[in-house]
Amino acid sequence: MVAKTMEELVSLCKRRGFIFQSNDIYGGVKGLYDYGPMGVELKNNLKQAWWKSMVYERDDVEGLDASILSSPLVFKQSGHEDTFTDPLIDCRSCKLRFRSDQLENNECPNCKSKDLTEPRPFNLMFKTPIGPVDDGSSFAYLRPETCQQIFTNFKNILDSTSRTVPFGIAQIGKAFRNEITPRNFIFRVREFEQMELEFFVKPGTDEKWHKYWVEKRLNWWVEQGINKENIKKLEVKNKDLSHYSKATVDIIYNFPHGQEELEGVANRTDFDLGSHTKNQNDFDINSNVLKNVNSTTKLGVQNLEEKKSYIPYVIEPSAGVDRGVLALLNESYKEEKIDSDNSRVVLALKSHLSPIKAAVIPLKKNNEKIVGLSKNIKENLQKIGLGRVMLENSGNIGKNYRRHDEIGTPICITVDFETLDDKTVTVRDRDTMEQKRIGIEQLLDYYKNYFN
Ligand code: GAP
Repeated sequence: MVAKTMEELVSLCKRRGFIFQSNDIYGGVKGLYDYGPMGVELKNNLKQAWWKSMVYERDDVEGLDASILSSPLVFKQSGHEDTFTDPLIDCRSCKLRFRSDQLENNECPNCKSKDLTEPRPFNLMFKTPIGPVDDGSSFAYLRPETCQQIFTNFKNILDSTSRTVPFGIAQIGKAFRNEITPRNFIFRVREFEQMELEFFVKPGTDEKWHKYWVEKRLNWWVEQGINKENIKKLEVKNKDLSHYSKATVDIIYNFPHGQEELEGVANRTDFDLGSHTKNQNDFDINSNVLKNVNSTTKLGVQNLEEKKSYIPYVIEPSAGVDRGVLALLNESYKEEKIDSDNSRVVLALKSHLSPIKAAVIPLKKNNEKIVGLSKNIKENLQKIGLGRVMLENSGNIGKNYRRHDEIGTPICITVDFETLDDKTVTVRDRDTMEQKRIGIEQLLDYYKNYFN
């Protein structure tokens, strides 16, 4: 059963240390969230799974970690200075500001006044001064998407790796958008993370590669534990396409607040490299790009058969990390009846995503021998390197099981008095709640096999 409400997820996230409202002790700031001890592990595991699938398991993708602060020239050429805007309307009576599509009957949604301004474009990019003088002459944008620095580094990566088209550049990192109405928990926020791949292909092969990446990405989300019935493809209508896109397929997930975009897979054509390249007239650029008089670098590649340079097309799968976390929490959250009087909440995450891989629980927290042996088991499991293993030396055993069910720990290992005699421990499985005794000598293999 999928979680019924966003409130249940928000409550679990706060109670168990996944996600907190940012700047909470000063009243919070809208659209900003902090990831706590469990959240940071889940998020890192999701990013690692993406990196493994997009970089390590392929032979045609390189990685990048570029700066967040970006020259305004980057976002002038990318089209964001001119087009990355929402039309806003001010209410002259209550002084609140709304996106024009939020108004019904030309009326303020707050005070119902009809005394409204005309819609005015509002750019969603955050700006910050660079250097000690804040007179507006020298500033940077906080990138609203991670991919632009992939395009500006295209030549650096080609030259340093000897790649040839088709190949891709992957990056995970923060992006910032001054969203007018951040909402739905971590779904629409002002500071978020993206996992983006820019895959460079020969013009003419772009549609084939676009289809390939849509299927690949959809299947990847299913491998992370998203039920096929809760995810679907949606071809974006021509009138709704971004200025750089020839075709986009959105991967839509059934979030608690409705069906919305989890990831977009766009055919960005030759727009980006064509817009950032020096000597644009040397190339047959198909898209409608802004004239570039500032770039120092040609971004074409050689067509060896025709002995001519061309600007590659780009296919871009772009996923939101925070939306991924929200989807996976929603998907794995279950309330189960244990018997006629008791129920439990369990986060049935795939084990590679679980924040804690195993909890080692000493039955008596003041017994030196039991605690010492538990620490030893914890250290040995930790050394295997599959993720965080926790020594859970608090509360009673029932409370510990409940807590680890709720944070999705696949196995709990209890060390008790019997362990001191016969060197066996109790291993409890999160999903079946089955418990069995295993010898400490077999534990390392059991643990490794579990995660394989
Ligand atoms: N480079 C292309 C690009 O940025 P996008 O559709 O604007 O395209 C890609 O964003 C993904 O980033 C979205 O599918 C979503 O998962 C995530 N995203 C975008 N805006 C977001 C926001 N305000 N809060 C959280 N995630 C967001």
